Amino acid sequence: MQTLGQYPNKRMRRMRHDAFSRNLMRENVLTSADFIYPVFVLEGTNTVEDIKSMPGVQRKTLDLLLKDAEACVKLGIPVMAIFPVVDASKKSLDAREAYNPDGLVPRVVATLKKHYPELGIMTDIALDPYTSHGQDGLIDEAGYVLNDETIAVLTRQAQTHAAAGADIVAPSDMMDGRIGAVRAALDEHGHIHTRIMAYSAKYASSFYGPFRDAVGSSTNLGAGNKYTYQMDPANSDEALWEVGMDLQEGADMVMVKPGMPYLDILRRVKDEFKAPTFVYQVSGEYAMLKAAAQNGWLNEEACVLESLLAFKRAGADGILTYFALDAARWLQK
Ligand code: PBG
Repeated sequence: MQTLGQYPNKRMRRMRHDAFSRNLMRENVLTSADFIYPVFVLEGTNTVEDIKSMPGVQRKTLDLLLKDAEACVKLGIPVMAIFPVVDASKKSLDAREAYNPDGLVPRVVATLKKHYPELGIMTDIALDPYTSHGQDGLIDEAGYVLNDETIAVLTRQAQTHAAAGADIVAPSDMMDGRIGAVRAALDEHGHIHTRIMAYSAKYASSFYGPFRDAVGSSTNLGAGNKYTYQMDPANSDEALWEVGMDLQEGADMVMVKPGMPYLDILRRVKDEFKAPTFVYQVSGEYAMLKAAAQNGWLNEEACVLESLLAFKRAGADGILTYFALDAARWLQK
């Protein structure tokens, strides 16, 4: 016979006992409306290419991409993010292809918006697909990425994308002052509704490796790195400073990138600013989960959905993820 006081008076397991009470007290929910689907687009028609370091992700031509856009609409995924694979012959020191109104991105944006006007289209504002050296900006003789000269090109790139119909432009270059300059350039040309998602706390991460393979900038970049503009992974206060400045300059949404190793940053950003906050589950995170799943070491569906829900718990309003289509289908079950 046990005497009173030997047992805990509050049993946390009581609420976990049945599905109904677990559902009742659940604090965060993941839905397909939380996703932004990043895609890699190729010039031409009827062509698909596998990406070795991102099994299951493919570069594809616009005609085939339309099917993915339709899938996003059907599954309730609100936004697709476009990343171009630019032909080597169009890469240059001055990155002029970045603002060619007849370039790949403007054509893709216009066609997607024509077929699926309800699907949000986001474009990347940075020069790395267009520079012969794979840096996000213009460089001087010493290879240093020039800030203000780069911004002059980025603003033209953003205007070109907005004119083609992009709903969201997302500067991922990490130049100082680019959000204010892009906002001013958009407004000057009447694109007052074009939203800006700022890659505000973008770290100089080695988890971007597979992405650079996907867009073909890794060979151009070679032994180069992005340490003079992307953030030091050791820093946290600096991320808040960056986010604060981007919001002040007119960002509508901010982003933390990469995702899983930076959940602490995500939480701090959301707590501090309460702004629409996004996170990018980057290519290296995709590759890790996929590789483990393919080896039979992890349950893919369970681990991917857990990783995505964890972003919500950490404060994300939305997630850029290469798993978007799969995850949306899993959530429908
Ligand atoms: C380019 C850009 C990068 C990513 C998104 N935009 C790569 C980089 O900064 O080198 C990375 C995305 C990923 O790894 O999934 N400015």
